[in-house]
Amino acid sequence: MGYDVAIIGGGPGGYACAIRCGQIGLATALIEEERLGGVCLNWGCIPTKSLYAATKLLAGAERAAQMGISFSKPEIDLKQIAEWKDGVVSQLTDGVGTVLEKNGVEVVHERGKLAGSGRIDLSSGRTIEADRVVLAAGSRPIEIPGFSFGDEAVWSSTDALALREIPDRLAVIGGGVIGLELATIYRRLGSAVSVIELLPEILSIVDLDRRTVATLKRSLKAIGVEVRTGTKAEGFETVDDGVDVLLEGGSRLAVDRILLAVGRRPKSEDLGLETVGVETDDRGFIRIDDRLETTAEGIFAIGDLVPGPMLAHKASTEGIALADSFDGAAIDLDHDGIPQAIFTDPEIASAGVSEHRAKEDGRSVLVGRFPYAALGKALGMSEPDGFFQVVAGEDDHRILGVQIIGAEASDLISEAAVAVRHGLSLEDVIETVHPHPTLPEGLKEACENALGRAIHVVNRSARKEA
Ligand code: NAI
Repeated sequence: MGYDVAIIGGGPGGYACAIRCGQIGLATALIEEERLGGVCLNWGCIPTKSLYAATKLLAGAERAAQMGISFSKPEIDLKQIAEWKDGVVSQLTDGVGTVLEKNGVEVVHERGKLAGSGRIDLSSGRTIEADRVVLAAGSRPIEIPGFSFGDEAVWSSTDALALREIPDRLAVIGGGVIGLELATIYRRLGSAVSVIELLPEILSIVDLDRRTVATLKRSLKAIGVEVRTGTKAEGFETVDDGVDVLLEGGSRLAVDRILLAVGRRPKSEDLGLETVGVETDDRGFIRIDDRLETTAEGIFAIGDLVPGPMLAHKASTEGIALADSFDGAAIDLDHDGIPQAIFTDPEIASAGVSEHRAKEDGRSVLVGRFPYAALGKALGMSEPDGFFQVVAGEDDHRILGVQIIGAEASDLISEAAVAVRHGLSLEDVIETVHPHPTLPEGLKEACENALGRAIHVVNRSARKEA
């Protein structure tokens, strides 16, 4: 049968694209060899956030003691936590399956590979034909010399999320987003965690200001996560009571398990791209134009397969925009405006550009900050760590970027994302009444601070910076 659209990959990019194609009445096939939902729902965002929430209760129990409420030492039933997390994942993936079905999308549970223009060969030997093909196959974790996911001692993020054991000592290779999120979870579960980062700073690929990273590093230290930057992990050796991670320069780190989280690369190598002339760059990312079309006519690509941040909401935004373009809409995507949320303790979230990036771009900016410690709601929650930071153009006061580090930052960033996306000014946020007492008041006060007018701090930090 011929389809209007065939999509390879059922993660957040592919399934969102398929649902929207269904909504606009296109005959759509979604080809997925594993479980619907891709890495995000099954082995990434959702299980991580479930475990983040579960282990946050452990940190919360300690916080409660400061408030005068004590619990006896928590008992951790690893099997039950894992079952609960798997239940969350199943509920979501089942839901996605239902929505696809109700929108008339045919889900094909097979492996698909391009076999010429508009043709996809399936693992069963069947061939699908479609007017347009969308590639949404996602990414996979990278291995580095000296470490292989085939080794029992070496975990991928998927192994870590399976929650089979709590190692006494865990080495996390890679101080990026995945490494630090899982370091937080395993530290809360009781592991002694050491993060080994090659570059001079953690979270280097994220556009964060130094002050934000420094605050996180202080907090990691406070919860007992050791961070070694500027340190290369070269391999490991099995020893009597575990493994020794071999570090550049000859030193060793004795641990029980190693989590390798040194980045991901696009899964573009086995899609039959050569059969239609789809080109990739030297890192394997598929080349696309601003309509998300590859170098082969009628073949499009989205998500982790194409350049830009490897984020689920970036993939789904592209997938939906692409489907709408099949219905005649223009595509208007802005990578800088895509917010990011990092689930460390405390959380970090950002939208738009950092102060540093704005200055590199030649902008004269106003910077405003407001600490959680001056927010009544945060103090009442016993969550005083962190701050809000807003960067705005000096001339027009338009908000260029916001960074939040502190409790619930991931939920607080969306107001900032609206402001960045729609070019709102400091005054637009300030003039919007924010209910009291709530955490979003921190963003409003940061905007006021940028103009030297915050109410609940002395406006020393209001600065004009060229
Ligand atoms: P990453 O690129 O963020 O971090 C990997 C780190 O490993 C880098 O800092 C790198 O310098 C370091 N590294 C490389 N080789 C090393 C070595 N030999 N020794 C020590 N350190 C070494 O990659 P990560 O954390 O694997 O994440 C992959 C992608 O998934 C990223 O694009 C990330 O943004 C995305 N992601 C985002 C999440 C979120 O926004 N909450 C959650 C999970 C993933």
